[in-house]
Amino acid sequence: MGKQSAWVAIQKKRWPLLILALLSLFTAMLFFTRTSFDSCATNSTSSATSNSIVINNNRFGEEEKDKFTNVQIQSKAAPNPLDFMKSKLVLLVSHELSLSGGPLLLMELAFLLRGVGAEVVWITNQKPVELDDVVYSLEHKMLDRGVKVLSAKGQKAIDTALKADLVILNTAVAGKWLDAVLKEKVPHVLPKVLWWIHEMRGHYFKVEYVKHLPFVAGAMIDSHTTAEYWKNRTRERLGIKMPETYVVHLGNSKELMEVAEDSVSKRILREHVRESLGVRNEDLIFAIINSVSRGKGQDLFLRSFHESLQLIKEKKLQVPPIHAVIVGSDMNAQTKFETELRNFVLEKKIQDRVHFVNKTLTVAPYLASIDVLVQNSQARGECFGRITIEAMAFQLPVLGTAAGGTMEIVVNGTTGLLHPAAKEGVTPLANNIVKLATHVERRLTMGKKGYERVKERFLEPHMSHRIALVLKDVLQKAKSHST
Ligand SMILES: *[C@@H]1O[C@H](CO)[C@@H](O)[C@H](O)[C@H]1NC(C)=O
Ligand SMILES: *[C@@H]1O[C@H](CO)[C@@H](O)[C@H](O)[C@H]1NC(C)=O
Ligand SMILES: *[C@@H]1O[C@H](CO)[C@@H](O)[C@H](O)[C@H]1NC(C)=O
Ligand SMILES: *[C@@H]1O[C@H](CO)[C@@H](O)[C@H](O)[C@H]1NC(C)=O
Repeated sequence: MGKQSAWVAIQKKRWPLLILALLSLFTAMLFFTRTSFDSCATNSTSSATSNSIVINNNRFGEEEKDKFTNVQIQSKAAPNPLDFMKSKLVLLVSHELSLSGGPLLLMELAFLLRGVGAEVVWITNQKPVELDDVVYSLEHKMLDRGVKVLSAKGQKAIDTALKADLVILNTAVAGKWLDAVLKEKVPHVLPKVLWWIHEMRGHYFKVEYVKHLPFVAGAMIDSHTTAEYWKNRTRERLGIKMPETYVVHLGNSKELMEVAEDSVSKRILREHVRESLGVRNEDLIFAIINSVSRGKGQDLFLRSFHESLQLIKEKKLQVPPIHAVIVGSDMNAQTKFETELRNFVLEKKIQDRVHFVNKTLTVAPYLASIDVLVQNSQARGECFGRITIEAMAFQLPVLGTAAGGTMEIVVNGTTGLLHPAAKEGVTPLANNIVKLATHVERRLTMGKKGYERVKERFLEPHMSHRIALVLKDVLQKAKSHST
């Protein structure tokens, strides 16, 4: 009894701190959300489909590649690179409004543009018929920051599109809005459209969505792999040509970096999460933070994890107990797949080493409490994989599949270790888990190198700078077209 109340007292003392830490996270939370879902496909059901289309190896010229990804930030006092957008009218067209990657990223851009005094108008093409809490709160968040929210259909939307300096269509699916609303006015608007694409799944290559793609001013895509894939697929499948394509890597928000760089809140979050999972401070946690689905490879990760436990036992390695944490569980959405995962855990009797955490709005507490991030996305991998740069901000090494955007983020052997996708990757990943469990120095160094890499190229100012170059180009093209 006495022990119990002492514990409660400690908890009570700790709670205000924790709440404080969480509060400071609150503004950031919204943007943490997307990572626990999909950073790439905006359709969460689609992430489960893993078809095996060959990755196109035809790379863009190095020069073109570096133009937009290797931007140097000159100095902290430098003016905001988006300043030239002041008082420009920008129309943002989102295919939907939800807590998934695509819409949240577009909202981030809306706020960056508002920050430099642009006039920003937002349209959501597909809205639920019934009143929806998420839509309501996101719309209010935008209104609070001075973004105008318009109905997708009607004269006002058409007038705004005609008047705008720039129209940004977000995701392939948003293409449906063009004909449906603008009708015969479509050709007037296309020359000032920048199409931001974040997906790499087969069903997005539909004429219905992307037939206007060749005629827009430009396409902006999150990784080189994804851009190449689009170039290839539009040509081979649809017989259309991509417009000028800009690759723009994403960046970490200021809010995330603040938590990642605050050792006090990190320690509190770490203690709290570990306590709730029943994992001791000195134990090692390898975690996947992604919605649970076959495409994200939690099944293969668990097989690797089990193999690594056996390796440690066989070789009698002196390592702290290792744990696997799977953040992104949703029994209602992926019942069959998740049942499979849980059965595997029971069958191998590793319940005390594997922990499932429900899909959550905030991933920072988990990033603060784990030791290694596993990015095990299968087939073509992640489009970009924002969780990867977020983990690196928390000085975590990454064990990732050699596919998609992960290869553009993780430096193999320096900030993490890559393994092949599919079954061939199970044993290499198991070996990599053992490697990082046994070599403490190496693990910590990789984490530090990852953090340095983030500071060099994956911060919000880097992203703003890259986006600014694109917007400048597109504005210029739109102008020369209209004169
Ligand atoms: C999402 O995926 C499902 C199943 O693949 C599909 O039926 C639906 O049309 C997709 N929605 C969008 C907006 O792409
Ligand atoms: C484009 O993709 C197809 C498979 O979808 C592949 O067979 C082909 O080799 C690729 N083309 C190029 C130029 O990479
Ligand atoms: C996780 O979600 C399931 C439903 O999918 C629910 O039954 C369970 O209580 C949740 N667990 C926690 C800790 O919230
Ligand atoms: C990553 O590096 C290891 C050696 O450090 C090497 O065996 C492996 O093939 C590399 N993987 C990729 C995809 O480059």
